[in-house]
Amino acid sequence: MTIADSALLITGANRGIGRALVDEALRRGADRVYAATRRPFTHPDQRVTSLIVDVTSRAQIHAAVERVESLDILINNAGFGVFDDFSDSAVLEQHLAVNVLGTHRVTQALRYFPARLSTLGSRVEGALREVLAEAPSFVAFEGYDTVAVIAELLRLHGTDRARIAEGWSTVAVDGTRGQNRFGRAPGVSVWQWIWPPIQVVARDPKEPDRFSVLYAAGAPAHVESRGSRI
Ligand SMILES: NC(=O)c1ccc[n+]([C@@H]2O[C@H](COP(=O)([O-])OP(=O)(O)OC[C@H]3O[C@@H](n4cnc5c(N)ncnc54)[C@H](OP(=O)(O)O)[C@@H]3O)[C@@H](O)[C@H]2O)c1
Repeated sequence: MTIADSALLITGANRGIGRALVDEALRRGADRVYAATRRPFTHPDQRVTSLIVDVTSRAQIHAAVERVESLDILINNAGFGVFDDFSDSAVLEQHLAVNVLGTHRVTQALRYFPARLSTLGSRVEGALREVLAEAPSFVAFEGYDTVAVIAELLRLHGTDRARIAEGWSTVAVDGTRGQNRFGRAPGVSVWQWIWPPIQVVARDPKEPDRFSVLYAAGAPAHVESRGSRI
């Protein structure tokens, strides 16, 4: 994973580890750092764009996503831990809302973010803008890509279900954000979009300058630093 020339979004960027990650990303030559914080945050470096994001607020997440022009790396840093009595369900709910659901919401909102539209994608965006009179959401791009893939499968294999089922492994169709191809994770019967790539990483305690990839491109990988799997 390369930080240089990348665009990152870091949640909980105003203090603690999040703030340190902002400065480290800039030091390593990041092109853009989206600093997501609950309260207004300023940073002297022009490469920092401040976004207001409480990870429990869908509205704030979606408003922030609208302002993200491109994204290579998402760091879900926001979180908290109150070492309290977990027999109090309100405390547990608060942890789940921020640490689990918050992380999930931010990831989902950005996962299919059309970071770099292909030439075809730009044409589709223009056409959709005209019809919708507003910027199309990622769902519109997904919808276009889905129809393009189905049309290609039907063109190559007709309506024969068995032949279509075999066709998933070879289909390669130009889409709004690159080529659409499909793969299957080991042990999973469903064919899934191979793209966009996702990596979940952790700092390697043995080599603090490096990240270990915990999960990459839809297929679980070894947790190098702990010798177990996620
Ligand atoms: N430090 C450790 O030893 C340690 C160990 C294990 C895990 N972690 C995890 O690593 C992360 C960073 O740790 P840290 O020590 O830097 O924590 P920290 O100093 O307490 O900072 C937490 C950050 O998360 C933000 N945050 C909390 N709730 C949020 C919400 N609902 N929406 C958006 N942002 C929210 C905080 O924003 P505000 O300033 O607005 O509150 C703050 O920026 C946390 O997720 C923490 O649980 C830390």
